[in-house]
Amino acid sequence: MGFTKVLGYSSLLLFIWYTLVNGSTPKHHIIYMGDHSHPNSESVIRANHEILASVTGSLSEAKATTIHHYSKSFQGFSAMITPEQAHQLAEHKSVVSVFESKMNKLHTTHSWDFLGLDTIYLSNPKALDTASEVIVGVIDSGIWPESESFTDHGVGPVPKKFKGECVAGDKFTLANCNKKIIGARFYSKGFEAENGPLDGFGSKIFFRSARDSDGHGTHTASTIAGSTVANASLFGIAKGTARGGAPSARLSIYKACWFGFCSDADILSAVDDAIHDGVDILSLSLGPNPPQPIYFEDAVSLGTFHAFQKGILVSASAGNSVFPRTACNVAPWILTVAASSIDREFSSNIYLGNSKVLKGSSLNPIKMKHSHGLIYGSAAAAAGVPAINASFCKNNTLNPTLIKGKIVICTIENFSDDRQEKAIQIRQGGGVGMILIDHNAKDIGFQFVIPSTLIGQDAVEELQAYVKTDKNPTARIIPTVTVVGTKPAPEMAAFSSIGPNIITPDIIKPDITGPGVNILAAWSPVGTDATVEQRPVNYNIISGTSMSCPHITAVAAIIKSHHPSWGPAAIMSSIMTTATVTDNTHHLIRRDPNGTQTTPFDYGSGHVNPVASLNPGLVYEFHSQDVLNFLCSNGASPAQLKNLTGDLTQCHKPLTASNNFNYPSIGVSNLNGSLSVYRTVTYYGQEPTVYSASIENPSGVKVTVTPAELKFGKPGEKITFRIDFFPFKQSNGNFVFGSLIWNNGKHRVRSPIGLNVLST
Ligand SMILES: *[C@@H]1O[C@H](CO)[C@@H](O)[C@H](O)[C@H]1NC(C)=O
Ligand SMILES: *[C@@H]1O[C@H](CO)[C@@H](O)[C@H](O)[C@H]1NC(C)=O
Ligand SMILES: *[C@@H]1O[C@H](CO)[C@@H](O)[C@H](O)[C@H]1NC(C)=O
Ligand SMILES: *[C@@H]1O[C@H](CO)[C@@H](O)[C@H](O)[C@H]1NC(C)=O
Ligand SMILES: *[C@@H]1O[C@H](CO)[C@@H](O)[C@H](O)[C@H]1NC(C)=O
Ligand SMILES: *[C@@H]1O[C@H](CO)[C@@H](O)[C@H](O)[C@H]1NC(C)=O
Ligand SMILES: *[C@@H]1O[C@H](CO)[C@@H](O)[C@H](O)[C@H]1NC(C)=O
Repeated sequence: MGFTKVLGYSSLLLFIWYTLVNGSTPKHHIIYMGDHSHPNSESVIRANHEILASVTGSLSEAKATTIHHYSKSFQGFSAMITPEQAHQLAEHKSVVSVFESKMNKLHTTHSWDFLGLDTIYLSNPKALDTASEVIVGVIDSGIWPESESFTDHGVGPVPKKFKGECVAGDKFTLANCNKKIIGARFYSKGFEAENGPLDGFGSKIFFRSARDSDGHGTHTASTIAGSTVANASLFGIAKGTARGGAPSARLSIYKACWFGFCSDADILSAVDDAIHDGVDILSLSLGPNPPQPIYFEDAVSLGTFHAFQKGILVSASAGNSVFPRTACNVAPWILTVAASSIDREFSSNIYLGNSKVLKGSSLNPIKMKHSHGLIYGSAAAAAGVPAINASFCKNNTLNPTLIKGKIVICTIENFSDDRQEKAIQIRQGGGVGMILIDHNAKDIGFQFVIPSTLIGQDAVEELQAYVKTDKNPTARIIPTVTVVGTKPAPEMAAFSSIGPNIITPDIIKPDITGPGVNILAAWSPVGTDATVEQRPVNYNIISGTSMSCPHITAVAAIIKSHHPSWGPAAIMSSIMTTATVTDNTHHLIRRDPNGTQTTPFDYGSGHVNPVASLNPGLVYEFHSQDVLNFLCSNGASPAQLKNLTGDLTQCHKPLTASNNFNYPSIGVSNLNGSLSVYRTVTYYGQEPTVYSASIENPSGVKVTVTPAELKFGKPGEKITFRIDFFPFKQSNGNFVFGSLIWNNGKHRVRSPIGLNVLST
């Protein structure tokens, strides 16, 4: 079960999916009926069948074509129906909308491996002591319940408020749940309706249950709430303690992802159940491919809006799409998470025959005993293959006679190239190692089937000079050495999706960044991909916004356990206003690989600071009614709002300007001359105190705050203030950035400001 297979299957899935989308066969549709929750799910199911029968012609056919019933937290169902039938259903008076179920992707980059490494990001002992009743719902690829990370020693009884279930299935029994994994459900009907039966995917292992055959879900769940596991050393390469950020929180597992893909319809079912089960926080390390669909037409946005309404914080990954305008999961009721590095590197250096050492990096536990000859892929092209094609070291492009026993130097075609596949091809041709020239990805830990390492610009020239001048160039690739305390850190990950928010640009997205590069956490022993020798592993190191999202989820869980009455907006605000924007060299956070300048569109409010977030001082709050007002002032029609809530929601005139939505960051996407915006903060300290404002002006704009001092007497007090923008220079279609900081000498409450100045 190699990594190649995962890619192969994914492409196959996409192919099948596109075929379905473009064909005239019945497709999987979601029939969404809004917010009316019925206590009696049987009557809902009957009603669903009757509505469907009105277009299919018979009740039995309706029963045969329905896939999911959403009956707990909102109402609706999904079914295999033709576009014509979908159209008819949309006319039905109780139906809010009918839309096709699409595929979402797990947000991991292709960097699989393991090395014992202390990933503990949070070091707040108080957080560890808390006997937590906080329940985190994880919608992902399931869980490996036997992992040491999910032992429940010292964990209190299952919280009484929990209404979920431990659903048995393939290799998963009631005994697999405990006081840590308190619930486990799985959803495959949507996936199978859209892609065919699960067992139609060749030899790929899967379990028709919450058991994780991939590893991704086990990794994210253990990052959130894994128990402390000492000595999580793998292959004895390095050692560390693995633990989740909120080791006393409880996990309720919703498996909706299969072979790396998650159907909209299954995700909606999972959200429906999770809300009903009583989770406090939902974690989604998945999302649609860019571009982000508008909120009213996006299953994740629709489902999570209901979660927000019911007081559940939703933390979701921004995606790994590298480029501006690609950030996904950007609705204002979702905490959108970008990914950044930690102060740790994996060096796998190259000893050249001329005794020079080149800096390389990868997760490479294999010892190379001797030096081997070096050859460029382009110099080893198979018959009839152009040199440029062979330089990428892909399937059938290399001449085995020429690469036998050699270390092959390869280049990358583009960022999304499959790096592991190249090493597999080289091994197949008899090669013994790979040097991959890959400047942009060199800081992401990849693992390969033969000793391999990634080199950047600095090393390339020296390597080229050596190969050019030496008749028999040789090299040896050294196993990985873990270097800690590296600087600068954090840096934004090269892959992390970037804003602006293409749907509502007044809301700066992503919101926050957390560790998402080379993260060690628990793994499914059957989920090992193209790892060294394909040995099963219990802990693995991978990268992605999939990994940063659960870090933020964990911080949210800690905040929730300290402040059980806090709603999702208060938790978001705490995490965002306490974030930091400087690295360990006291410079502004930069972006990997070239140390380029960043903006809030890379990291939102900044890098998470868990300790400070527990005690933010002031909080920006908003509720679902405020969200609806915000959407109204962004031009939402009653029909669209009905799409979201299921109710006929009228916009209340006069509309509040969307800039005045009480978000913890401040964005104006079309600043046309001077403008005043308003925010309200709630005081969460004990003693009377005074906060003073300080402003970092965006380039070309003068910003003032009135009043410039906020005097608070008692907790819970709210004060509204005004921020005036006086632009004196157009920003030429780009945003300019600054910040507002409230400070009382103890707490620093920071909001980034992002303005697009159209005219002065
Ligand atoms: C950690 O693992 C090593 C072997 O990898 C073993 O020698 C050592 O005793 C272990 N330490 C603890 C505290 O379990
Ligand atoms: C409601 O959502 C569906 C699903 O994407 C979409 O096709 C439809 O256009 C939406 N309706 C409105 C009024 O936005
Ligand atoms: C070489 O690569 C180009 C571009 O990807 C492709 O069109 C061409 O078919 C390849 N040629 C061979 C012989 O593989
Ligand atoms: C490589 O090419 C061969 C023959 O063209 C094919 O059978 C094989 O499946 C390919 N391997 C991969 C991993 O694409
Ligand atoms: C990257 O290269 C692959 C293989 O040639 C190609 O299929 C893909 O479309 C390219 N992606 C981008 C973003 O250019
Ligand atoms: C970083 O710099 C290198 C060398 O100058 C360049 O090739 C590469 O495209 C740059 N990468 C990014 C993401 O800017
Ligand atoms: C900006 O304001 C001017 C003057 O009021 C108006 O003519 C112009 O259309 C406005 N531009 C935008 C993009 O709102």
